[in-house]
Amino acid sequence: MGELQKKKLLFVFVSICMLLLVGYEARPFHHVEMNGMISVAHRGASNFAPENTQSAFRKALELGADFLECDVHLSKDGELIIMHDDKVDRTTNGSGYVKNFTLAELKELDAGGKFHSSFAGEKIITLNELLEEFYGETGLLIEIKKPSMYPGIEERVVALLGEYNDLNSIIVQSFDIESMRKMNTLLPELEVALLIKPSIQSLSSQKIIDLTSFATYINFNVSYVNKREINQIHNQGGKVLVWSTKNQGWVDKAYQYDVDGIITDFSIWPVEGPIQLVQE
Ligand code: G3P
Ligand code: CA
Repeated sequence: MGELQKKKLLFVFVSICMLLLVGYEARPFHHVEMNGMISVAHRGASNFAPENTQSAFRKALELGADFLECDVHLSKDGELIIMHDDKVDRTTNGSGYVKNFTLAELKELDAGGKFHSSFAGEKIITLNELLEEFYGETGLLIEIKKPSMYPGIEERVVALLGEYNDLNSIIVQSFDIESMRKMNTLLPELEVALLIKPSIQSLSSQKIIDLTSFATYINFNVSYVNKREINQIHNQGGKVLVWSTKNQGWVDKAYQYDVDGIITDFSIWPVEGPIQLVQE
């Protein structure tokens, strides 16, 4: 083969590689847009598939969620398990506390059949499995459930997230303020969010200054937040996400309140709500 032919072949090869690379980078992501608010899939697209399962997260991606929200507990053998309740009873065919099962035992349970027979056989997944499939595809909002039940759970989450260089698409949240203060100390580059219990009627100005000193997001049930709190959080450089039960009115309230995003099971918004599906 002559020198010129070799150069031509090399040029063709490099061009194909570049095309493949550009094609991959430019792959269009669907995303849901409503005046800048982001959509966070609550336990995945939990209106359409069993909550906190691979099916629910895949469905959320299909619907264009900007973030997947999930809940995390610790198993008997120290694995980070994705489940909302501290017991397996409501969502699986098993009975008992997550902390009393090993991962292998949890994997034996059916996490789909109770939602609908078509999901029978769906497995419980770990946070590691969630990250392996969805990191880089969409954002992840990881809620640590009841951290006081699982001493050291923050360190375990930090160790797992430490395997990922870029944490820009990950937020960790909890109702436990001190747990999130600890997360911020352990991994300052990670954004943390605080969930405000509905039992807390209103946050004082001083409290908002304290919370926004380490938390990027202060998240509320939309029924228990007022405009003064949202304005002040924004003035402090913070952001607000809201979640709620299935009620069309809450989407409008969130919109009027100028929040930064909605944590939704997709029953009301965006599937049936005033949405636009756009392609970047
Ligand atoms: O992300 C907000 C929401 O998940 C908090 O409530 O009970 O669904 O975990 P819960
Ligand atoms: Ca949650």
